[in-house]
Amino acid sequence: AAEDGLNAWLRYARLPDNIIRQAEIPSNIVSLNSTETSPVYVAGLELQKGINGALGKTLDVTHKSNKRSSIVVGTVDAFTAAGGKTNAPELEEDGFWLDTKGKTVQILGQNERGALYGAFEYLSMLAQGNFTKVAYATNPSASIRWVNQWDNMDGTIERGYAGLSIFFKNNTTIANTTRVAEYARLLASIRINGIVANNVNANPITLSDENMAGLGKIADAMRPWGVRLGLSLNFASPQTLGGLSTFDPLDKSVITWWNDQTAKLYKHIPDMAGYLVKANSEGQPGPLTYNRTLAEGANLFAKAIKPYGGIVMFRAFVYDYQNLNESNWKDDRANAAVDHFRHLDDEFDDNIVVQVKYGPIDFQAREPASPLFAHLRNTASAIELQVTQEYLGQQCHLAYLAPLWKTILDFDLRVDGEKSVIGEDVLSGKRFNKTLSGYAAVVNVGQNTTWLGTHLAMSNLYAYGRIAWDPTVDEVVILQDWTRLTYGLNRKVLDTITDMSMQSWEAYENYTGNLGVQTLTDITYNHYGPNPQSMDNNPWGQWTRADSDSIGMDRTVWNGTGFSGQYPSEVAAQFESIETTPDDLLLWFHHVPYTHILKSGKTVIQHFYDAHYDGAETAASFPKKWTSLKGLIDKQRFEEMLFRLEYQAGHAIVWRDSIVQFYNNVSGIPDAAGRVGHH
Ligand code: GCU
Repeated sequence: AAEDGLNAWLRYARLPDNIIRQAEIPSNIVSLNSTETSPVYVAGLELQKGINGALGKTLDVTHKSNKRSSIVVGTVDAFTAAGGKTNAPELEEDGFWLDTKGKTVQILGQNERGALYGAFEYLSMLAQGNFTKVAYATNPSASIRWVNQWDNMDGTIERGYAGLSIFFKNNTTIANTTRVAEYARLLASIRINGIVANNVNANPITLSDENMAGLGKIADAMRPWGVRLGLSLNFASPQTLGGLSTFDPLDKSVITWWNDQTAKLYKHIPDMAGYLVKANSEGQPGPLTYNRTLAEGANLFAKAIKPYGGIVMFRAFVYDYQNLNESNWKDDRANAAVDHFRHLDDEFDDNIVVQVKYGPIDFQAREPASPLFAHLRNTASAIELQVTQEYLGQQCHLAYLAPLWKTILDFDLRVDGEKSVIGEDVLSGKRFNKTLSGYAAVVNVGQNTTWLGTHLAMSNLYAYGRIAWDPTVDEVVILQDWTRLTYGLNRKVLDTITDMSMQSWEAYENYTGNLGVQTLTDITYNHYGPNPQSMDNNPWGQWTRADSDSIGMDRTVWNGTGFSGQYPSEVAAQFESIETTPDDLLLWFHHVPYTHILKSGKTVIQHFYDAHYDGAETAASFPKKWTSLKGLIDKQRFEEMLFRLEYQAGHAIVWRDSIVQFYNNVSGIPDAAGRVGHH
C-alpha cells in the first residue's frame, strides 16, 4: 500500500474487464531514443508500465520504427528524421502532439520533455478508461512551471506537514535518490519542469563542495523526468561561507565569489535551472544592507548565471517587519511589494523573474490578487502559490485549493483599461510581450508515503500542475481526472470526492476568517488553529484592527493605507468604495462597524456567527459523506482519511467557538440565533 501512495495518481490500477474490452491498443511501443537517462526512454517504459497496469497487456519497447501498429513516442524531429509522417502543427517548447486516430499512436514532443508529457497524457486517458480517438496539440501557457520546496539542510521542512526531507539530512544531501526520482516522475506527469529543493530561508552551507556534489546527484536523478534543479541562495554567503569581509553586491570580490560558485555548480549540474532569492525580508540578508537596490542585488546573480542560460527567480515577498506599527493608521504590510518594486521595473536584467505571492500578504484563506502584476511591465513575473496548506489547515483539514487559485488567476487587473487577466493574459506573457513568465508553488512533500501527509491533499499538487499548463482549465475537470486516477472509476466515489472537495475551501474560510479579514489563525508561531487575538499588535503587519465597535483594515486612498490605489484605476475605484467592494473582501479593504449591513443583508457580526456555524456544519458532513464510501475504496485509504476528516470536523467546532466567542466578547452584540454568548 505504501507503494500505491508513492504512485499517487500514477497507480494505473487495473480497469474493469468490460472497459478493458473496449480498448484498441497497438501491439508495441517505439521510443525514439535508446539512451536510458533520456525522457523519451523513460516515456517508453512508463507507457509499458501504465498499459500493463491499467489494461493488463504487456507490450515490448523498441527504439526503431517498425511496420507493426505501434505507440511511437519521441520528438517531432526524431520522428520525421526516421521517415515518419505526421499532422503535428508547429509546437512550442515543451508542447506535444497526441494522435490516436491512425494505426500508429503518435506521441510527439517539441522536445523530449514534451514527448514525455504526451506519454503521460495518453496514459491518463487510458487509465480513466477513455479510449476516444483524438488528434490534438497542446502547448504550455508559460515556460516556468516550477515547484519550491522549503527543505532545510538538516532535513526539517519549513511549513512542511509530511515528515522529513527527501533531499537533505544532517546538513548534507541524502545519497539515496530513489524518492527524489519518484517525486520527479510525479512532477513530470503534471508537466512541472523545475524544482528548487532548498528553503528560501537558505543556509549558506548548501554551497559547500560536498553539497554541490550531492546536488549534482539529485539533479541526475530528476533529469530523465525533465525536471531541472534550481537552488535558493543566501545573500550573505560570500561572507558567512566564503569568508569575505562583505556581501555588498557591487563589491568586486563578491561578484567574483558568486561567479566562481556558479561555475562550480554548473560543473555538477550542467543544466541547472536557476537561482531563487529571498532578500531583505523577515530577517534575511540582502542588498538594502549596503544601500543597494533590490535590482542591483538581483542583477548580481543574473549576470553570474547568464552565461549558462540560467534564470533568477527573485522574490517580491520583501517587507520590513521591524518597522511596522499598528498605531499608525497608514502602516500596511500589504503595500510593501509594490512599494519596493514599482520603481525598479526598468532595472532588472532580462533573465530575472520576479516571483510574486498571489496575494499582498501571505497565503491567506482569501486575498485580493497582488497588484504588483500590473506594475511589472518590463520585468518578467511569476506567481507563487502554496500547495502546502500553511494557513489552510496544514493537511489536517481538507481544502481543495484550485478554486482559490482561480479567483486570482481569473482576476482582470484592467491595466490601462484593457483586459489583463492574470493567468490568461499576464502570466502567459501575452499582455506585456514576455517570453519568460509562469508559476511556482511551494509544495513541501516529505518522506511520508502519501507525500503530503494525507491522501486527499494530493489533489492540490495535481491541480497545480494542470493549472500552470493551462490556467483556464476548469477546477472540477482537474479534480475529477485526479479522482479517477487515484480512486478508480466508481461514480459514487467520484461524486462524493467532488462534492466534498468543492465545498472544502469555502467551508474552511467560513469557520476561520470571513469577509477578507484573513485566516484569524495563530500568527506568531505555527499558523495553525484559531487565535484571533494574535491578529493585532503583532510585528508581522497581519492586522484586523478589531476594537469594540468596528473591524477591518482601511486600505482606501481617501482615508486609509492607500493600498487600493496600487491597482490600475478601474480596479482601484472598485475597491475604494464600500458599495462596489465584494462582501468577501470587505474587511480587507474597509474598516466598518460590526453592525455594517452587507450586500447579503446581514450585519458583519451576524455574518461571522452564521458563517462559522455553516462552515463547521459542512465540515461535520465530511466524515458522513466519506463513510458512505466504505467498501468502495481500499481499507487503508478509507480509514486514514476518515480519521483526518473526523479530526477536521472536531477542529472546525473549536474554530467556530473560539472565533464567535471572541467577537461576541469584543463587540457585545448577541447572535440573532441565540447560539453564542453566556447562557
Ligand atoms: C511565510 C512563512 C514563512 C516563509 C515566508 C516566505 O511568512 O510563514 O515560513 O519563510 O512566508 O515565504 O518567505
